[in-house]
Amino acid sequence: MTLALIGGTGLSRMPNLDVIESRTVKTRFGNPAAALLRGRLGNEDVLFLARHGNPHRLLPHEVPYRANIAALKQAGATAIVAVNAVGGISDAAAAGTIVLPDQIIDYTWGRDMTYFDKGHVPITHVDFSWPFDSALRRRLGEALEQVGAPWVDGGCYGATQGPRLETAAEIRRMAQDGCDIVGMTGMPEAVLARELEMPYAMLSLVVNPAAGKSEQEITMAEIEAVLHDGMEHVCAALAAFCGAAGA
Ligand code: HPA
Repeated sequence: MTLALIGGTGLSRMPNLDVIESRTVKTRFGNPAAALLRGRLGNEDVLFLARHGNPHRLLPHEVPYRANIAALKQAGATAIVAVNAVGGISDAAAAGTIVLPDQIIDYTWGRDMTYFDKGHVPITHVDFSWPFDSALRRRLGEALEQVGAPWVDGGCYGATQGPRLETAAEIRRMAQDGCDIVGMTGMPEAVLARELEMPYAMLSLVVNPAAGKSEQEITMAEIEAVLHDGMEHVCAALAAFCGAAGA
């Protein structure tokens, strides 16, 4: 397996990745958000891509999702673990918790969300009943357990358009729909990985209670405070996933 990691908000670079090579890749869907890094994590050679660029400069709806996923495929990736920051909707998704979602609801619009458009033959509708790969999820769960990170097995990720945060009413509706967490980048990333037949799983770090779930306004300062410690857990878990001793 050649594992690719996609880092999101708070993870534009991975402190514990020993970078061997940085490569600019072009695809027929344009340029990915950043150079592809190849490096050593634990016992494995992995690829790393900063979803929003490095430094972080692309808003969720500006991310070149098709180029990002196509670049990873071209570079030989056979599985993807994506990291993202999310708001917590259900009680289990408290700030600082890492959720391993098992479902998605897509509320985004206007994004390039398929490789199979513009007259692609044959007409293709991929199965997406289970958007996340169960074997990757199981191994990620073991890694999270190994490093003692607070985590939750399963949950529904609601993907919103952003860049604004949601209204309290939108979050109430999402809760009724069955969403446990809310983020802005899970789609179309997950489905594009499916279209290119790469098993995909997500580590979603809860960085704030979603809109209307706490008395306070959601501030970037609050989010950044949780991001810092939370991403340390994420990086440790990814190293353990890759077989790092003592991780
Ligand atoms: N909503 C959407 N995306 C997010 C949030 C949120 O509350 N927090 C971090 N990413």
